[in-house]
Amino acid sequence: MINLSSENAAWVEKIWNSLAKKLEKNASALQDTIPYMTEGGKYTDMAQKNINWWTNGFFGGMLWLMYNATKKEIYKTAAEKQEKLLDTALLNYDKLDHDIGFMWGLTSKAQYVLTGDKDSRRKALFAASVLSSRLNTNAHFIKAWNGRPYSIIDCMMNIPMLYWASKEVGDKRFEYAAEMHADMSMREHIRDDGSVVHICVHNEEKGGVTETLAGQGYAVGSAWSRGQAWAVYGFILSYIHTGEKRYLEACRKVTDYFLEGVKKNGCKTPTDFTSPQEPHYIDNSAGLCAACGMIELYKVTGEEKYLDGAVSILKAMEEDFIFDDSNESIVQNCMVSYSEGKEVDLIYADFFLCEAILKLKNTDFLIW
Ligand code: GLY
Repeated sequence: MINLSSENAAWVEKIWNSLAKKLEKNASALQDTIPYMTEGGKYTDMAQKNINWWTNGFFGGMLWLMYNATKKEIYKTAAEKQEKLLDTALLNYDKLDHDIGFMWGLTSKAQYVLTGDKDSRRKALFAASVLSSRLNTNAHFIKAWNGRPYSIIDCMMNIPMLYWASKEVGDKRFEYAAEMHADMSMREHIRDDGSVVHICVHNEEKGGVTETLAGQGYAVGSAWSRGQAWAVYGFILSYIHTGEKRYLEACRKVTDYFLEGVKKNGCKTPTDFTSPQEPHYIDNSAGLCAACGMIELYKVTGEEKYLDGAVSILKAMEEDFIFDDSNESIVQNCMVSYSEGKEVDLIYADFFLCEAILKLKNTDFLIW
């Protein structure tokens, strides 16, 4: 249960009112498309451009969060359409990768959890089965993409799908696969100072990591903030689903690093915590995802610094929200990767803003 100061509660209520108005309009206007980022104020439609794109579950997931909080039918109708749009992607085996967790965890699994829909349960379990089959049992990692033997920290947000499947069908194999991957991530992706490696290259036969890559961060050895955020939220989710204390400690370590990094930047989230002062890029998507993880970490530990951290990050980015009709998305100033060299808006930033606000209002459900 979150109890905010009256000042913070009023701020959350103000943001919620604007957010709810805009999302209701979007649910109606965008329900037959899969939004990703805006160009000239209008969302690109991934149903047309790339149905297997990893972010294609976020709009559906946001609609389920809103349906759960408001019980308005428009959100349910629109969310069900999102799930249907993804059907062709689920059977395109060669294009499936570990992001199946993002895609069907936020759509089919959420739909089943909230409505009991049997067809959605079947799709979610199918997706979880494909995800668990990506585990390399020699080298103890879930393979990220369909090329070289990479694990990426982002996968910490895909494996909650496996904890769910484990309980849903009463089969521990899913949980063992998730824990094997989470333990590898703790060993190989988290550095001693609490910063996180985006990509590890594994020796598939003998195990062990042969190389680390910069991925979407600034450079090899740097600290990409969204990767750090995937770790913050991912490790607390592994703790919530398993009760294993080692994941809670891992979460504290990566969160403390995140909080130190934003404190040095006036609570704004840089795209990479170790990049040079110029060019200095902001990634609000990272701040929002981490804030959601910090709120869960606060709920588990009762340590105020995590709730304060989350609220400070949110408040510091308020100037980057657009609630009027000039742009279909809300959160501006996010980055796909440091090397792209420009800030954009991304559907998952809006998702995590929505999730964070609902958490602070105690009207969320744990969609992960
Ligand atoms: N999971 C890919 C990204 O964070 O951009």
